[in-house]
Amino acid sequence: MGVWDRQSEMELDRIVEQVGQRGYSWVHMPFSTQSVRDAMNAFLDFCEMPKHLKEQCSQPRDERGGYDLGYGFRNRSEENPDTKEFFHYTPAIAGQLTREKPAVQFRNRIEPVFQGCMEMLRDVVQILEVKEPGLGEKLLDEKSPHTLRFVKYPPHPPGVAYAEGHYDRGVFTFGLYESHPGLWANKTKDPVTYPSGYACFFPAIMFDETCKNIKLSKTWHGVDTNGEHLIRPNIARAAMVFFAHTPNQRPIPPEEARPY
Ligand SMILES: [Fe+2]
Repeated sequence: MGVWDRQSEMELDRIVEQVGQRGYSWVHMPFSTQSVRDAMNAFLDFCEMPKHLKEQCSQPRDERGGYDLGYGFRNRSEENPDTKEFFHYTPAIAGQLTREKPAVQFRNRIEPVFQGCMEMLRDVVQILEVKEPGLGEKLLDEKSPHTLRFVKYPPHPPGVAYAEGHYDRGVFTFGLYESHPGLWANKTKDPVTYPSGYACFFPAIMFDETCKNIKLSKTWHGVDTNGEHLIRPNIARAAMVFFAHTPNQRPIPPEEARPY
């Protein structure tokens, strides 16, 4: 066994132990936190464009994984239609970010972060392959619809969650950025924290089907409100995550992602 294999084995032991204990682990982020902040600011600038221009940067729901690609929004409820806006980036959507200046700037800021996430994905795959040979062929296939998600929320009343408890639909998730604490993991709702320079790693619904030799369970998680903070007018929270997928992933019904 070479030095790198031994190092990967120790890293895998650490990840399995930490995820087992608290639902998530830390993984080194091989790109700057400044590039992440720049991309988030470019997303917030993009969201200030008129709605019809933003909607030109979207593609219909991806039936395999249930994700919209590109720009989207959700109203919280009919009675209280605060709008959550998001952008799901894959390279396939890049060609739709070419017209307006904020869209071009956003694309320019996303690309180094997406490439950095792919490098982080390759690092994590190398670690997981200690026990799961062949994982790279599944996850690093160029058809894999890995998705970089930007999301922003208006203020919610105290006690109204930004995200109710759920499981993510991919193989695993990297948490990259939160404007404020609020993310929690496990039924005990332990706060999730990660230091600068690290991303938060946690398994998603497809993990045990994809990594049969690594005994990790998908992580139950959500986001609570955390006081009154405003990043910009009417924006109380922003976050960025990366979802790792395999090509031809089976459709995940909503009740499997939020069974309670
Ligand atoms: Fe999630």
